[in-house]
Amino acid sequence: MRLSIVAAVSENGVIGAKGGLPWDLPDDQQFFKRLTLGKCIVMGRGTHESVGRLLPRRTTLIVSRNPEYRVEGAEVLPSFAEAVEWARTRDLPEVFAVGGAGVYAEALPVAHRLYLTRVHARVEGETRMPGPLDPAEAGFHLEAEEYHTTDPRHAHAFTYQTWERPAG
Ligand SMILES: NC(=O)c1ccc[n+]([C@@H]2O[C@H](COP(=O)([O-])OP(=O)(O)OC[C@H]3O[C@@H](n4cnc5c(N)ncnc54)[C@H](OP(=O)(O)O)[C@@H]3O)[C@@H](O)[C@H]2O)c1
Repeated sequence: MRLSIVAAVSENGVIGAKGGLPWDLPDDQQFFKRLTLGKCIVMGRGTHESVGRLLPRRTTLIVSRNPEYRVEGAEVLPSFAEAVEWARTRDLPEVFAVGGAGVYAEALPVAHRLYLTRVHARVEGETRMPGPLDPAEAGFHLEAEEYHTTDPRHAHAFTYQTWERPAG
């Protein structure tokens, strides 16, 4: 089973502000949707609550250390490792770690693929991407990238990057 990370990060390492995304980038949201539709996603309780609903047509695993925490229509697991194991035992081909910082911190050392949207801006925000901002420092190599310019719907330019790391 492949473990992939999907994240959007600013030039100064910010991924979240005031409990939400620090930007409105509809094409990046569409990219996320296309990538994860029909697949299994793992997110932290904070990210689930910031989205405020389950994303349709995806299997959602939520990690929380609170044994009482329940979300109808999702599986709640006590650790990231147990979420990955849940997916593995169901023979799923790929699972996507979709944030926030706690989930990324656990996924980064073990992920095979990283879908990184580099937002070309420095923004304020309290939630940061853990680990090195250059995935090459963590053994990933850049497979593909595609630039998206600013336009009336996108206040920031950004670049979609796909990074790979051999299974170790
Ligand atoms: N830019 C992006 O790509 C992106 C993606 C996702 C989210 N975000 C942003 O990031 C922010 C939310 O992220 P966050 O870091 O604050 O919260 P988070 O990681 O989504 O959730 C934190 C909570 O999840 C549980 N958790 C996290 N990691 C865990 C682990 N390894 N094992 C067990 N439980 C774990 C804990 O829940 P309990 O307290 O219940 O134990 C923890 O308090 C929002 O602003 C959101 O918009 C950005």
